[in-house]
Amino acid sequence: MIDPFGRAISYVRVSVTDRCDFRCIYCMAEDMTFLPKQDLLSLKELERLCGAFIDLGVRKLRLTGGEPLVRRGVMALINRLGLQLGHRFDELTLTTNGSQLGRFAEELVAAGVRRINVSVDTLDPDKFAAITRWGRLPQVLEGVMAAKAAGLKVKINAVALKGVNEAEFDAMLEWCGTHGFDLCLIETMPLGEIDGDRLDQYLPLSTVRARLARNWTLTPIDYATGGPARYVDVAETGTRLGFITPLTHNFCEGCNRVRLTCTGTLYMCLGQDDAADLRAVLRGSDNDAVLQEAIIAAIARKPKGHDFVIDRDHNRPALARHMNVTGG
Ligand code: GTP
Ligand code: 5AD
Ligand code: SF4
Repeated sequence: MIDPFGRAISYVRVSVTDRCDFRCIYCMAEDMTFLPKQDLLSLKELERLCGAFIDLGVRKLRLTGGEPLVRRGVMALINRLGLQLGHRFDELTLTTNGSQLGRFAEELVAAGVRRINVSVDTLDPDKFAAITRWGRLPQVLEGVMAAKAAGLKVKINAVALKGVNEAEFDAMLEWCGTHGFDLCLIETMPLGEIDGDRLDQYLPLSTVRARLARNWTLTPIDYATGGPARYVDVAETGTRLGFITPLTHNFCEGCNRVRLTCTGTLYMCLGQDDAADLRAVLRGSDNDAVLQEAIIAAIARKPKGHDFVIDRDHNRPALARHMNVTGG
């Protein structure tokens, strides 16, 4: 699948639920309304949709949420997709908050998952509770260690938050180095109404990087996962440090991905509203050729790039949709 700007679409991020056991301050309001269960695609429908994308040339699937591992029965989907790994597509992975990894790490490996991204914004238990509202750090660290012990390659994601975790990145880099984890820092993106002020949270990563460079030898490298991060090698740890900077540096020209929500809506860009309803197509016909046509028509509308701005006068995000709809 080639989009109008010549980009090959080989990667689909699949949000299997909008629900989450955390309420991160930059992601959600505390009292979120979630989708009624009957609006969700069944696991079978999700599998069929993933199959249609694979038929069209997609090589990488990432399950996201909300929190993907709180969707009931999700392991059945992961197992069935895992059976197609290697011959039908190359990589099956997850982005998770880690809370359920203690339970699932070994099953994930058995299903063919080789690497996962876990969100950990701070190693301070009180701050962790404050950022995630409902999360508890020991449970997440236990999950991360279970993943490591099971042989999963772990990447830690941390959203950089002004005045919250900005003094901790040295410590986090050190911890990641000790365990052989790559670390990715992320600028907050203005998606959806949250309880606080987005501008208060925003911390440009150029500042963070300059500070880290005082204590660590950072060398830019070509390493690319097909994701938006730009990586440096950290000489002292032997691990990688990535920066995801949608607001200070636009990486859209190399975008290779689209996002499917748990209701079967396909977003062609994280930072735009345009979407295609694949659920109606899926439920309207058993013919996969019809589904593939709808996907191809949607890819033909993929925009050039995102429009992230914060409406400074009204402190309102340009996009009403929350991050848990698309899983980032
Ligand atoms: P890798 O396969 O490890 O490179 O994963 P990734 O970094 O693409 O995925 P992950 O789920 O770990 O996402 C990390 C952060 O990158 C999240 O905050 C996502 O919202 C953000 N992100 C992922 N893809 C895009 C994108 O296309 N545009 C923007 N603006 N942000 C993205
Ligand atoms: N801006 C940037 N990253 C976000 N995430 C969730 N909401 C936001 C936001 N508004 C991150 C999570 C996780 C990934 C899926 O997206 O921390 O690492
Ligand atoms: Fe849940 Fe992830 Fe959103 Fe936090 S960022 S509330 S863990 S979906």
